Amino acid sequence: YSEEDLYRPNFHFTPKKAWMNDPNGMFYKNGYYHLYFQHYPDGNTWGPMHWGHAISTDMVTWKEMPIAIYPDDKGYIFSGSAVVDVNNTSGFSKGGGQPIIAMFTYHDMDGEKAGKTNYQSQAIAYSLDEGQTFTKYSSNPVIKNPNIRDFRDPKITWDSIHEKWVMVLAAGQKIMLYSSSNLKDWKLESDFGDGIGAHGGVWECPDFFPMVVQGTDEIKWVLLVSINPGGPNGGSATQYFVGDFDGKQFKIDPSFEKDLNSSEHKSIWIDYGRDNYAGVTWANIPDTDGRKLFMGWMSNWEYANVVPTETWRSAMTVARQIELQKVNASYRLLFQPVKELTSYRSTKFKKESIAINGDTKIIDSKAIDLSSTEINFKISDLKDKGFTFKLTNKQGDTLAFGYNNSDKNFFVDRRKSGKTEFSEKFVNHVSVAKRTSLNPDLLGTIILDKTSIELFFDNGETVMTEIFFPNSPFDKLSIEPKDQEFVLDSIEIHKLNFN
Ligand code: FRU
Repeated sequence: YSEEDLYRPNFHFTPKKAWMNDPNGMFYKNGYYHLYFQHYPDGNTWGPMHWGHAISTDMVTWKEMPIAIYPDDKGYIFSGSAVVDVNNTSGFSKGGGQPIIAMFTYHDMDGEKAGKTNYQSQAIAYSLDEGQTFTKYSSNPVIKNPNIRDFRDPKITWDSIHEKWVMVLAAGQKIMLYSSSNLKDWKLESDFGDGIGAHGGVWECPDFFPMVVQGTDEIKWVLLVSINPGGPNGGSATQYFVGDFDGKQFKIDPSFEKDLNSSEHKSIWIDYGRDNYAGVTWANIPDTDGRKLFMGWMSNWEYANVVPTETWRSAMTVARQIELQKVNASYRLLFQPVKELTSYRSTKFKKESIAINGDTKIIDSKAIDLSSTEINFKISDLKDKGFTFKLTNKQGDTLAFGYNNSDKNFFVDRRKSGKTEFSEKFVNHVSVAKRTSLNPDLLGTIILDKTSIELFFDNGETVMTEIFFPNSPFDKLSIEPKDQEFVLDSIEIHKLNFN
């Protein structure tokens, strides 16, 4: 197999060549979803950061565009966001158009090498051609460094409730909240994070936005905070908080705080797998659509630089829709693959009421190519029904995942999934996530590509995303019970076709 055949994802975004990390600056305009990304075009490991660029009409099929923002003598271009300045509050548009404003962190490598602490600052750039090219603002930086070593990743949201731009950035192990009327002058309003949530590492790549609680007219604010290291299963991961915002300060909701403090790691995560990091949401999604749309970087800083691909390194997750729900007297974010993915469904395979009393084959790759599939399954009245799904190939590689009835954990086990010798940390752990849903029935969605699995349990209340590198494609899917036999009520497998 060539590297392309074996490891280039069928439908997850990868740059044609070279290194990629965080998604940046995502916005929607005139039929196009824009995705920028941390990119080092001259090497396949992390290096001088640029903003690469890709566009899509459906967040599934992407077209890579020329690099949008280059580093310069002020530094590398680190993560940040972009907004459509609909009313030209910035004044960058002279002809009545809507400028795109990108805000990013300048990372001054020389300053860092010289041992300074103030080497990260915030800057803006504007685009008058719908995000293809950007001009850096002449008065950068717009926010100087207040002598904080880690001070980065500005994410802007238009706050339609208080009618101003709101921006969050990560500062050490806190989030700083700013506001602005023109995207150039920023006022520090407050900070958040002391003594709450996970603090195993530095806080990075926050996102902050209001959401309607599903089925009500209640509005809550959601704060996403990526952290590295300190994730629930090791390395980098993204936690979240639900609360209220008065235009100045974010206050965690008391019921969510209680829930948080009684949860396993005093933190609640958008994804319990090891490979969903630095994810944020799209700006400027039309009200007529109304969705909150998310994408993350599908890797982990513990091994991202050494995964076994040479031409490119890293992929993004599938785009996901977020919903906020009242769950068990608290709040939960539910993540699901965007519905656009279903329009790629082709061949379908469905089985119902399968008795599972030993390792039971579900399907093999002669029937459906397992490296490009969406699988939906249901087990009613879950209770003590533990199970292990297994993806296998002729080389004896196995990716196992499922539910452990004894400790109520979902799990993903990639320890024997193929190439693993590149990093001890890749295989030092079976990832687990406690089931929190009280629903008697279990619904699951599985998204499979050549090198990734994305598991959405209980309508996306618990998500696990992990990558793997088999020696040849997985060609069989089977399921076996943990200890007692049970009935798999239904399983539906859709081949996703991208030709
Ligand atoms: C997160 C991160 C950001 C930073 C970027 C640098 O993965 O460390 O905090 O801006 O990557 O590439």
